[in-house]
Amino acid sequence: MMAYPECEMERYTCRGQCDQQKNNGVSRQEDEDEENFWDYFGLLQIGPESFHNPHQSTGNENCCSRNVLRKQRHWQKIISAKKCKRKYERERRKAKHAEKKDVIHQLSKRDLKVIAKGRLLDAKETGPRLCIDLSMTSHMTRKEINRLASQIRRLYGSNKKAQKPFWLYFTGFLKNSPIYEACLRMNDGFLNYHVDATPDSYLDLFPLGTIVYLTPDSENALEEIDPQKVYILGGLVDESIQKRLTFQEAEDKHLQTARLPIQEYMIKNVNAKNYHSTILAVNQVFDALSTFYETNSWEEALKAAVSPGKGYVLRDSAL
Ligand SMILES: C[S@@+](CC[C@H](N)C(=O)[O-])C[C@H]1O[C@@H](n2cnc3c(N)ncnc32)[C@H](O)[C@@H]1O
Repeated sequence: MMAYPECEMERYTCRGQCDQQKNNGVSRQEDEDEENFWDYFGLLQIGPESFHNPHQSTGNENCCSRNVLRKQRHWQKIISAKKCKRKYERERRKAKHAEKKDVIHQLSKRDLKVIAKGRLLDAKETGPRLCIDLSMTSHMTRKEINRLASQIRRLYGSNKKAQKPFWLYFTGFLKNSPIYEACLRMNDGFLNYHVDATPDSYLDLFPLGTIVYLTPDSENALEEIDPQKVYILGGLVDESIQKRLTFQEAEDKHLQTARLPIQEYMIKNVNAKNYHSTILAVNQVFDALSTFYETNSWEEALKAAVSPGKGYVLRDSAL
């Protein structure tokens, strides 16, 4: 127990400290405990005067017999342990009290909502920007569109909880399109999301030089998040894997591209299906970006975003 070294130090000054504690108004119970101890000494015929330096001659050599010294040491130990226990109990009571106070002062759901909204609105001014390109829904089945709507809900939920959120754009987002209907049907409060949603293309919104298209097929590993740039995610769920779709789109438009640095920080893990994939869902990519933006660590970011099912583990965890 941590308190022990201190207890050792207190051994020989116990009585003085107890007196001091009494003067400082230590509880009545503690005073009684103290009295009981001195009663025990009485029973053993060891008076408090025996607590003077045992090596000092008192003139009565019988008092200092080995037996008495042994008993002295024994009781000194008990007193010391008792003092430590009292101290520990005092600390525990204090911690409990602080805990209760914390619960009482806990913020209401309403307060938390207000705080989260404030952070999102700040992000609109100064935060990094992330855009989901929702113009490619013709490449998806109805089931895939529903899954994309769920992923958008998760992505928005993560961003709302983040201490350092991104500002989000939904582009190519047509009212009454299948993805619009799916979001409305499946995502509570969708119309109140704090995002910029537009039927326009991201190409019409942002200068070309600021755009970085995130695509798993890029040759460039993302190194940092630059608040001057806009990161584009392909609004795609491709269970039927349409390889290089977003990469081709970005190439055609001469856009800068980047991929998450999975290969740089992770290695393939042996698994029964021998399955390895660096293609993540949009909300998982977002979790990586958001965690990186908060921690500045790709290890943390990829740990948060790449599920074990993808067949990759962090290099260090494989050692
Ligand atoms: C399910 S993926 C779609 C993959 C699709 N084959 C494609 O061509 O983009 C959805 C989107 O998440 C982003 N994404 C997924 N994995 C990524 C990775 N490893 N690095 C960068 N972006 C990624 C891309 O923007 C991608 O379009």
